[in-house]
Order: sequence, then structure tokens, then C-alpha cells
Amino acid sequence: MDVFVSREIPEPGLKKLRKRYEVQVSKKPRNLTKEELVENVAGKDALLCLLTDTIDRDVIKAGDELKVISNYAVGYDNIDVKAATERNIAVTNTPGVLTEATAELAVSLMLSAARNVVEGDKFVREDRFEGWDPTLMLGHELHEKTLGIIGMGNIGRKVAQICKGFEMDILYHSRTRKEKVEEKIGAEYTDIESLLSKADFVSLHVPLTDETEKMIGPKELEMMKEDAYLINTARGGVVDEEVLIDFLEEEKIAGAGIDVYADEPSNANPGYYDLNNVVLTPHLGSATHRAREGMATMAADNLIDVLEGRRPDHIVNPEVLDN
Ligand code: NAP
Ligand code: GLV
Ligand code: GLV
Repeated sequence: MDVFVSREIPEPGLKKLRKRYEVQVSKKPRNLTKEELVENVAGKDALLCLLTDTIDRDVIKAGDELKVISNYAVGYDNIDVKAATERNIAVTNTPGVLTEATAELAVSLMLSAARNVVEGDKFVREDRFEGWDPTLMLGHELHEKTLGIIGMGNIGRKVAQICKGFEMDILYHSRTRKEKVEEKIGAEYTDIESLLSKADFVSLHVPLTDETEKMIGPKELEMMKEDAYLINTARGGVVDEEVLIDFLEEEKIAGAGIDVYADEPSNANPGYYDLNNVVLTPHLGSATHRAREGMATMAADNLIDVLEGRRPDHIVNPEVLDN
């Protein structure tokens, strides 16, 4: 069997694949172009790809022998799952192993934005610190504030759990109500309007889909409190970025912590760069040694399971297994 891996991933995953198959790994230190993807998937039995690879209908069609597309990510908005399903190709992802890493990043964005951590760092490096000052860079505490989680899945739940440690009140909105989570964490289910109007911190944890695209637009931002913060570690496209930038510029909300951008895979949004009330990270949610190794192993296991005729632990389109 022939496997194509679109970029170097941690060795434990590659090792598993090399033990069983002919494995070709792209050595390019960048994302592949569409043409390169098309060329490399032809004749391969399996593709292990990244969230930065756009696996559209054309790439899938070029993969005439593909049985599985194993995404090295939990989000799979980069893959045309419908096109894959039509061709009976299994699509798999890597949930769970990156939950803690991503949740911790979301919380660190909350803390950094609300306590001027990045602004403060810059201030000191610019040699402007002249001693403790009673009114310097006053921010907000997380303690006993209200957190609004949108998308109460693995990561949303973990963020809520961590924030209980700050004695925050937890509101959430999700596609389906989760009574067990409400009991366990002490979270309250609300509609999105009431969440946005009550929360001091709004943290987004939905996947990017047709339904969630720009779900945070002008109407939603208008509902947020003036001293509230928006945290996005989900996908850039979930927010109307241009409107958010206007709101931050006009200080209609207190600030934001942003890890993901609408123009990915290649760009962030320069509109953010001059704003002091936003903390930016370069899509680092799962960027821990543990999470990335776990993702590599899981992506390899998913791929191997499909090629060996077993049901993988994490499949996005299980209907292909029943055919
Ligand atoms: P998950 O467990 O599947 O959670 C997603 C949650 O969103 C589910 O609870 C889901 O549905 C809910 N949801 C889906 N559509 C919705 C809608 N239209 N309205 C309201 N809620 C909706 O996934 P996860 O592991 O927590 O990951 C969430 C997302 O985070 C991923 O899809 C990915 O895009 C992003 N992510 C980013 C990073 C990063 O590096 N920044 C890292 C990992 C993941 P139910 O309410 O029906 O359960
Ligand atoms: C990261 O963004 C992921 O979806 O795994
Ligand atoms: C601050 O450093 C304090 O001691 O209150």
C-alpha cells in the first residue's frame, strides 16, 4: 500500500506507517499547492494531510485509489467530505488528544487579553517601566466573572472546567443541550442572545460549517457588553473578522484573544496589527509536544485501521464503512 503524507509530522506517527507501508513524506517546509497535492495523491491508497491542505473535489478525484483521508487535526473544514463520501473514501480526524492543549490556550488568551500581558511585555522591553504605578494598565479579573461558551464539545467543556477554578459562572450555547455536563460542571444552557448579553468572556468552540460561518457578526457583537472579551480558538470564519476589527477599533468591546484567522491557511488579518486590545497567536491551539505527538499517532492509527478493514476510532463519514 502507498501512503502520502503532506508534511513532516512527529516521528511516532510516521514510524507506525513506515512499518507497514511505502510512505512518501513531503519534505517541503511549506504547504503544498493544489497542483502538488493533485500530483502526489494519484495512485496512493491513503493520504495523511494537515488542516492547511485544501482537499477539494479535484484533489479527491485525482486520488483515484484513495481509501482514506486522515486529517492531522480535529477540525475538517479543509476537506470536501461530501466529495470523499461519494467516492467511498473514509475521512478521519484527531479529537481528544488536543483538547487540553487548546483549552489551555483559550484560557491563556483570556488572561493575556484581560491583564495586558502582551502590552506589558512590550512596555518593559521598550524600557518604559519606571516602577510600580497605581493606575498602570488596569485590566479585569476572571474571578467570579461570567464565561459564555459557544460550542460545548470537548474543548468547550474543558475550558468551562478550568474556569470553574476562577469561580466563574458558566453559560453555554450549543447545538444540543448537555444535561450531564450541566450537572458535572455546573453550567447553564442559554440561547445565544442571552449568552452574548451576559458574558464577560465569550469563548468560541464550534467547528466551521455552513451553519457556524460568521455566526458572530455585527448583530451578535452589538449584544456583547462593552467590557467583555471575545476569544476565538475555533476557526477564523466563525467570526465576521472585519466587523470585529471595527468593534475593537471603536472600543465597543473591551478586547479579544485570537488564535485563528479567516484567511488561513496563509494569512492572519493585518487589520488587527495596530490594535492594543487584541492578543494574537499564530494558530497555536494544539501546539504542545504532547498534543502533536498524540495527533500523529492517532492520525496514523486511523489511517491504518481503514486500510486494514477495521473501524477507526475517529471517523467523520461512518456511512462509507457500511457500504
Ligand atoms: P467537538 O467536540 O466536536 O465540539 C464542537 C461542539 O460545537 C459540539 O458540541 C457541537 O455540537 C457544537 N456545534 C456544532 N455546530 C454547532 C452550531 N451550529 N451551533 C452551536 N453549536 C454547534 O470539537 P472540539 O474538539 O471541541 O473542537 C472544536 C473546534 O475547535 C474544531 O472543530 C476546530 O475547528 C477548533 N480547534 C482549533 C484548534 C486550534 O489550534 N486553535 C485546535 C483544536 C480544535 P453539539 O452541541 O451538538 O454537541
Ligand atoms: C486545529 O485547529 C484542529 O482543528 O485540530
Ligand atoms: C504588589 O506588588 C503588592 O505588594 O501589593
